[in-house]
Amino acid sequence: MPRLTPPAITPGTQRDLPQPVLYADGLHLRPWRTSDAAVLVAAYTDPAIRRWHDRSMDRDEAVAWAASWSRRWADETGAGWAVATPDEVLGQISLRSLQHGDGRSDVSYWVLPQARGRGIATTALRTLSTWAFTTLGLHRIEVDHSVANPASCTVATRAGFRLEGTKRGDALHADGWHDMHLHARVSGDGPIS
Ligand SMILES: CC(C)(COP(=O)(O)OP(=O)(O)OC[C@H]1O[C@@H](n2cnc3c(N)ncnc32)[C@H](O)[C@@H]1OP(=O)(O)O)[C@@H](O)C(=O)NCCC(=O)NCCS
Repeated sequence: MPRLTPPAITPGTQRDLPQPVLYADGLHLRPWRTSDAAVLVAAYTDPAIRRWHDRSMDRDEAVAWAASWSRRWADETGAGWAVATPDEVLGQISLRSLQHGDGRSDVSYWVLPQARGRGIATTALRTLSTWAFTTLGLHRIEVDHSVANPASCTVATRAGFRLEGTKRGDALHADGWHDMHLHARVSGDGPIS
């Protein structure tokens, strides 16, 4: 059935762009490479990443996961970046569920344990959202995190994602159901203070 409202982002907009490398504060947000597989495997041995992202990753899965982002870019269903310096990967950030019709996505991020507490996730989230609003044309980006994950709450808040509410029993983790904070930015929110 035809949709009566035109899509917020014209189909083909994303696939016609090369996936950019985004730069901020000495960080590069760059496309994943097959050679990043070992870092990914190590990342998913970290208890906090395993807990909040609720998965493990072996080498074959890491190679497939890294490769999946170019397909998702071409399908316009997602976009993922390694958060890196020229020498090493420090984390990941991704638009996980792009919906061009409504101009919306949620975002996922983690930072390797040895790189935490330096503002890397906050910088990555600010940088990615600026690109997504101004170049891709997204209207709304959401961050969901468990109320038991205050570090993620700090990241979202500092990156200008207002707290909109608490979703009760919204995510099932290994230790049971978690209430989740919903944070969001919309394109009209203006610059981050
Ligand atoms: C959440 C996470 C991405 C933050 O990455 P980061 O690069 O360390 O984040 P930032 O440095 O930008 O900011 C984090 C802030 O939260 C604070 N913080 C860390 N642990 C905290 C805690 N238990 N309670 C409250 N604040 C906490 C940090 O101290 C820092 O604030 P500060 O600069 O005032 O010290 C990282 O901890 C992580 O990867 N955790 C595991 C995976 C995860 O939780 N992903 C998000 C799922 S929604």
